[in-house]
Amino acid sequence: MLKGKKVLLCVSGGIAVYKACALTSKLTQAGATVKVVMTEGATKFVTPLTFQALSREPVYVDTFEEQDPTKITHIDVADWADVVLIAPATANIIGKIANGIADDLISTMILATTAPVLIAPAMNVHMYDHPAVKANIHKLKSFGYQFLEPSEGYLACGYVGKGRLMEPEAILTYLETYFETKTSLLARKAILVTAGPTQEKLDPVRYFTNRSSGKMGYAIAEEAAKRGANVILVSGPTNIQPPPNVQFISVTSAQEMFDKVMFYYKEVDIVIKSAAVADYRPKQVSGQKIKKQPNDWAVEMERTIDILNTLGEQKAHQLLIGFAAESEQLELYAKDKLTRKNLDMIVANSIVQEGAGFQGDTNIVTLIKKDGSNVSLPLMSKKEVASKIMNEVESLLKENEK
Ligand code: CTP
Repeated sequence: MLKGKKVLLCVSGGIAVYKACALTSKLTQAGATVKVVMTEGATKFVTPLTFQALSREPVYVDTFEEQDPTKITHIDVADWADVVLIAPATANIIGKIANGIADDLISTMILATTAPVLIAPAMNVHMYDHPAVKANIHKLKSFGYQFLEPSEGYLACGYVGKGRLMEPEAILTYLETYFETKTSLLARKAILVTAGPTQEKLDPVRYFTNRSSGKMGYAIAEEAAKRGANVILVSGPTNIQPPPNVQFISVTSAQEMFDKVMFYYKEVDIVIKSAAVADYRPKQVSGQKIKKQPNDWAVEMERTIDILNTLGEQKAHQLLIGFAAESEQLELYAKDKLTRKNLDMIVANSIVQEGAGFQGDTNIVTLIKKDGSNVSLPLMSKKEVASKIMNEVESLLKENEK
């Protein structure tokens, strides 16, 4: 994601400057071009030469030192950037840019740039808590500047609290997600993902369920959120943590899943139904624990509602993606479901192949689209499968926009 990206890294004067060195190195290794601008204060901690060596680019400190007479540096470099990142951002630089002051190269460039500005503060916990700093941050957020929240922990001043610069690895991930989101068609799209098994109650202690772990659906929800989508994850009971940045809705039975999915259906753009929904449930649910009898016992089952089928019938603007887990005649059965349920794409996986199907961390799937085209993927992690699925969803969105 960072390959070829132009990052203007503004380094202001706090002890966390040493972390900006590691950040410069990581960004450069990830393929970004990094130009560093420093305040005088920052140069007291680390010399410009360090950043020059790490970025292999000139480092800028003085507004009035013009190296190239054909250019005005603060405008030229401000225009060059795809993104401006201030890390570490001191209370002083935050205060200056919140108030339009331009008395050094960084604050001048911030006024001159039209690129998005990301700010990673680092300071003493009481300074970070000061109403003036809070008001300045609030003001900058209202301008559309994004803040990379400092973390809590040991601070160089000896205090323990909030004010530590976000770690370079985390800043790198933030930037990757930032560029992914910016370029993705999924940004701000509303996606509903279902995941996991359902449980169909028989009595207070027994239920019918299946072996779905929820891993595939959770990976899809995570990937969609990473690409900037607003994700609603409706999940049956699982043992895994929901990904961050998704609206999580926990359900138990097929009927409950149906109710939640239908509640949100009208307002979403895409539905991905990876849940392994029970096709049958006990016809009678006993309020008391059923006692064993000497003879055999047959439980009468009735059909649950087919959620995906109902979504297909009521489809308006939404893209519908279903799953087909088959043990034989994979493509034939999957294509039948694709047409019968009025889907745009189906993710077909053979549950008998080694490394595919329920429980594991890997899967082998074929993505079949309604125009008949298909993509057969080799064995890969469920996270990678999720990324491939979202690539195809993006291409479906592109076709729809034509
Ligand atoms: N599905 C659903 N509601 C159900 C059952 C399944 O929404 N009551 C969805 C699943 O989430 C999945 C797809 O339908 O996306 C699976 O299709 P389905 O025809 O139900 O496959 P199987 O359950 O494997 O059934 P079959 O016995 O027909 O192969």
